Amino acid sequence: MAEARKPSQPKSIFSPKTEELLKRKQKAMAGGGPERETAQHAAGKLSARERIELLLDDDSFEEVDLLVEKRSREFGLDRRYLPADGVVTGFGRINGRSVCVYSQDFTVMGGSLGLAHAHKICKVMDLATEAGVPVIGLCDSGGARIQEGVESLGGYAEIFWRNVRASGFVPQISAILGPCAGGAVYSPALTDFVFMIEGTSHMFITGPEVIKSATGESCDFESLGGARTHSTKSGVCHFVAGSEQDCFRQIRELVEYLPQNCREKPAAAMPSDDPQRKSDKLDAIAEMEAKKSYNVHEVIWEIADGAQFLEVHKAFARNIVVGFMRLNGESVGVVANNPMVLSGALDIDASEKAARFVRFCDSFNIPLLTLVDVPGYWPGMEQEYGGIIRRGAKLLYAYCQATVPKVTVVLRKAYGGAYDVMSSKHIRGDLNYAWPCAEIAVMGPQGAVDILFKSDIKKAADPARKRQELINDYTAKFSSPYQAAQHGYIDEVIPASETRAKVIRAFHFLKHKKVETVKKKHGNIPI
Ligand code: HXC
Repeated sequence: MAEARKPSQPKSIFSPKTEELLKRKQKAMAGGGPERETAQHAAGKLSARERIELLLDDDSFEEVDLLVEKRSREFGLDRRYLPADGVVTGFGRINGRSVCVYSQDFTVMGGSLGLAHAHKICKVMDLATEAGVPVIGLCDSGGARIQEGVESLGGYAEIFWRNVRASGFVPQISAILGPCAGGAVYSPALTDFVFMIEGTSHMFITGPEVIKSATGESCDFESLGGARTHSTKSGVCHFVAGSEQDCFRQIRELVEYLPQNCREKPAAAMPSDDPQRKSDKLDAIAEMEAKKSYNVHEVIWEIADGAQFLEVHKAFARNIVVGFMRLNGESVGVVANNPMVLSGALDIDASEKAARFVRFCDSFNIPLLTLVDVPGYWPGMEQEYGGIIRRGAKLLYAYCQATVPKVTVVLRKAYGGAYDVMSSKHIRGDLNYAWPCAEIAVMGPQGAVDILFKSDIKKAADPARKRQELINDYTAKFSSPYQAAQHGYIDEVIPASETRAKVIRAFHFLKHKKVETVKKKHGNIPI
């Protein structure tokens, strides 16, 4: 008897081979499946692919290694299918410019890193280095895949090695979008910029339980390694975002200021502001009483095109401000002492923060504008014991080594060693300006008079009056920019209101600056 005819399947429009390819791709793209994806969303997190879509220009993502599979068969791994081995990798565009990206998929075994997973990340890092484009890592992982043992540790080390090889060659950005624990933290730490999300990102070497048993200290994931902790206390995190969407918007904004690699200059934007624009506000700041403090952000906003400033490390070491602005369309890195916090003095954290920023800008041909208002180094046993000598030297080293165009403006105080460090003429600032209210001296008048005239003041009939007279005398002689200008250490004393026009002209003049550096293997920065 003839078999009953089965209801006919709609005929595929694809050939069998294409059909097979599509099936394989679909399976690999499903990640950990709908249940785990729901759990991921319930935890306030996006999926690995949703993240890439939001980060990159529409329809620009080209995936590689979708069909890669796990290597290990130990501990039941032989019975498990791990789609794409828990990481989505490839290349795409941000505002039309190419980048490489990897995005760990927490729905696949907690985004844990096995050997194949590591090799996929290494491949896009290699592609990024060869193509000379930035590499962006979206991290959400339980760390080394325990079942893969040393293979997984080796995989991490391969990534670290590539992070170091790419350092200073292509910009590297990490976004921590979930857990990042143990040695896994060292890949983000080796990259140029780390983003974290309030409430969902956690970075730590040892977790709360291990800490409790080892030291007796109590903490939770958030207080130990959340975005607030790392952006204010440890300085590990450069940018905090309120949501993943906000994080990807910020990364896209940051990439705009950067070149693709160390052989290029950052792309200029269409100038959006009058290069000759004067600022009465800057005059008002310059005419303020010397003891009053002001927020240096006000100065930065007045100088920048359209008052736009992308601040890096905003909540960490707030006595120094670093970030990117545009000047007549060109990308410029800014380093500015902030008199609102610790009077703008340099301490360990400020020195390290600014040093790393100066080195980043120098690596990637981004000119440096330094705005100086510094009373010196922050005093204290804690600073001395903490290594202010060794760690403060990093900023000095970074400025001395930087060969990008360097323009400096002394706004008010530039005292002592901090005067030298803050891109002074002596360590090869190219063009150094000062406002008329600048005070450039070994130290402030009170301190100087008390040291120099201790016995004269003691012997005087009216010591307080004598001291004040001496302070006035010192102020007239030294608390000005003119002694420095007489020696040519300040190229020009400028009205504060003209600062924007002056620095734009200076950078334009320095645009093609080239410095031949001494050939050696590398220096020995006091790290
Ligand atoms: C294998 C892992 C894993 C790992 C998580 N999973 N981490 N599998 N290796 N490292 C798996 C879980 O078994 C689980 O699988 C799934 O991922 C989801 O994990 P959950 O624990 O259910 O998720 P959650 O409750 O959100 O907790 C997430 C977590 C936790 C905090 C990350 O999983 C965790 O503590 N994992 C271990 C973290 C860790 O100690 N890693 C090693 C760090 S040391 P199933 O199938 O059950 O759903 C390290 C060294 C690197 O990484 C050294 C480099 C030099």
